[in-house]
Amino acid sequence: MTKLISIRESAQHVGEEVQMHVWLTDKRSSGKIVFLQLRDGSAFFQGVVRKNNVSEEVFEAAKGLRQEASFYITGTISEDARSHFGYEIQITDLKVVCNNEGYPIGNKEHGIDFLLDHRHLWLRSRRPFAIMQIRNRIFKATVDFFENEGFVKFDAPLLMHSAPEGTTELFHIDYFDHDAYLSQSGQLYGEVGAEAFGKIFTFGPTFRAEESKTRRHLTEFWMMEPEMAWMHQDESLDLQERFLSYVVGQVLEHCEYELEILGRDIDKLKPAAEGHYTRLSYDDAVKMLQEGGRDFKWGDDFGAPDEAFLSEKFDRPFFIVNYPTAIKPFYMKKNPENPMTYLCADVEAPEGYGEIMGGSEREADYDTLKAQIEEAGLNLDDYSWYLDLRKYGSVPHSGFGMGFERVIAWICKLDHVREAIPFPRMINRMQP
Ligand code: 4AD
Ligand code: MG
Repeated sequence: MTKLISIRESAQHVGEEVQMHVWLTDKRSSGKIVFLQLRDGSAFFQGVVRKNNVSEEVFEAAKGLRQEASFYITGTISEDARSHFGYEIQITDLKVVCNNEGYPIGNKEHGIDFLLDHRHLWLRSRRPFAIMQIRNRIFKATVDFFENEGFVKFDAPLLMHSAPEGTTELFHIDYFDHDAYLSQSGQLYGEVGAEAFGKIFTFGPTFRAEESKTRRHLTEFWMMEPEMAWMHQDESLDLQERFLSYVVGQVLEHCEYELEILGRDIDKLKPAAEGHYTRLSYDDAVKMLQEGGRDFKWGDDFGAPDEAFLSEKFDRPFFIVNYPTAIKPFYMKKNPENPMTYLCADVEAPEGYGEIMGGSEREADYDTLKAQIEEAGLNLDDYSWYLDLRKYGSVPHSGFGMGFERVIAWICKLDHVREAIPFPRMINRMQP
């Protein structure tokens, strides 16, 4: 029996006869030979059909294949030094499954709206393929990292009774006879998990009804939120640095092929895998902006252009620590050295990408947290369960959230986060 293999496995089967399940991305023929550009979801490579190697019927079938035709092939793997992939298949047999005409995405340039309207098909192309493979690698690296660090994967609900961080960015839904909201963060539930299991991480979809039409905003995105009992902010920053360097290292190690498809300059990514991320205070960041001639006052929140300005100054991710309390949520712990600020940090990616992660030490004292909830104008009843965590066995604890698509967009150097998720949801896009 000939073995069924994926294109990616070609290197281990040079000289062997194998079977593959493939689709056609492009085709070129010249008299006695047909060159088929093939994909199977694992990689892209070339199949060669020679008139004198196959039956008349197979040769005609190969000549008649249309873009995105699906078919079974049998053939022998050979090395192909000229191709980027390094291997090709000399086809001896071919059986067509589906071969319709009119595939809408050609090999010419298409506008982004056209491509997004055809996202259900566009995902088959090289560039989305490379991005989604890298997405998958980052997912795997994340799960491996936290498992190795002794974390438990913990699932937060997505239907929320109340608004954890204020209601302005929430999607409201009718839940039988009640109001409910789609989750904008699993954090408060993650804190429950930390007191039950020590160290946990949540990973799931997040919803924000943000009116921002920027390169960095989706209305549905994925967030990974670790929460660590007994951990102070400085140790959380160490963990964040270890985590992000591991993720980038794994992408560099396993996704060379995909990064090359994207034309990513990997020298720009290498420093991120080395660690040594600067911990810049909010105060110093403000000074850098002012010295750079930007109109920015202490107390302002950074806009995308401010973050881009700062992030051009670093060759790897860096932290901005201790933001003013007024621009961050109520659950953070105040900085004992300056109670106008919190023990919090955002991670900014280099090359102009800006914020990719954010977190803090959490306020662990019952009375202080209660006062902060009231100051934020939130309804105490909604937080009674959350306050219970401070009533019984409260411990210092810290956590953070990683914006999955933001990290992918930076690692892949995308112009917009919409390419980092299979089916982007934005203000003007819900389809397909
Ligand atoms: O900074 P955010 O709002 O923080 C939280 O939600 C905390 N509860 C996290 C925690 O401490 N557990 O969101 C976290 C990250 C941001 O740093 C950003 O990378 C990403 O989520 N993010 C978005 N990504 C895509 N589209 C949006 N609209 C996003 N809003 C935030
Ligand atoms: Mg943030």
